[in-house]
Amino acid sequence: MPLKQLSLQYQQRVDGALEQLLKNTSNIAAELHQAMHYSVFNGGKRVRPLLVYLTGQALGVSPELQDAPACAVELIHCYSLVHDDMPAMDDDDLRRGQPTCHKQFSEATALLTGDALQTLAFEVLSQSTALDAPLLLPMFKTLTHASGAAGMAGGQAIDLSATGKMLSLEQLKTMHEHKTGALILASVQLGALCSARTDLEEFEALKHYAQNIGLSFQIKDDILDIESDTQTLGKQQGADISLNKATYPALLGLDGAKNMARQCHQNALDSLSQFDHKADPLRWLSEYIITRDH
Ligand code: IPE
Ligand code: IPE
Ligand code: MG
Ligand code: MG
Ligand code: MG
Repeated sequence: MPLKQLSLQYQQRVDGALEQLLKNTSNIAAELHQAMHYSVFNGGKRVRPLLVYLTGQALGVSPELQDAPACAVELIHCYSLVHDDMPAMDDDDLRRGQPTCHKQFSEATALLTGDALQTLAFEVLSQSTALDAPLLLPMFKTLTHASGAAGMAGGQAIDLSATGKMLSLEQLKTMHEHKTGALILASVQLGALCSARTDLEEFEALKHYAQNIGLSFQIKDDILDIESDTQTLGKQQGADISLNKATYPALLGLDGAKNMARQCHQNALDSLSQFDHKADPLRWLSEYIITRDH
């Protein structure tokens, strides 16, 4: 099945599971419940759940086992975006083209929405009946580590403290490895942990794959920001790479950034060399990340 169809299929699968989950979530506070639903169903690409499912698929795991970790990592992602948009952080009015949670509801509700989505992520894992209990502890370890100070939250803190400063390539990489890379890595690790197999070499190879696509995802994001500005503002302004914000194109030039993204894609493919055709969708996804146009 081509990647487009596969990703649509898994998107529908995780959407169904998330819908069910929110239906079963306490709604003693109607507005909070509504805001949670609003923030989960607003057109996200579901890249992280897709990574969980595709990694599991590469290892021959059935998708039923992966629903809970796929929901969990997406809920953490959604919570991180709700808080990221708030006035104390990026102060954004729009997310995926619609009013951000605090604009649509209130700041207090957005705060609580983030809190509730985060805890729901761990609740869904704890309540999974499909996964054997011994598989769950490593999953909790993976997701908590990736979400907290050593992962996404830490990366967000680096991002805030870096505002208005030019970072070195190394510092930029560290920020992204935490801010977005950690949850991308966790998605692949969660998919792998669904398989009861403990082949360390395979696990390391998948980790390397995830680190490379996490990096190329970010580089491509920076490139797209410039190219979409170029389209809307006209070539001259858009082609000016803003120098007061640390991005890969600002540090490497547009061509340098494109080369680095291609190198990451190659590294990702090399990491998967020991895997058979079941890992092809992971290979296609890596290619999609660097060739996508939005
Ligand atoms: C965007 O992530 C925000 C970052 C973490 C950099 P995605 O591009 O995966 O966002 P959605 O979920 O598809 O909107
Ligand atoms: C968001 O990063 C990252 C997380 C929420 C962890 P950004 O602030 O750079 O992304 P956008 O532009 O709001 O999607
Ligand atoms: Mg931010
Ligand atoms: Mg932001
Ligand atoms: Mg962005």
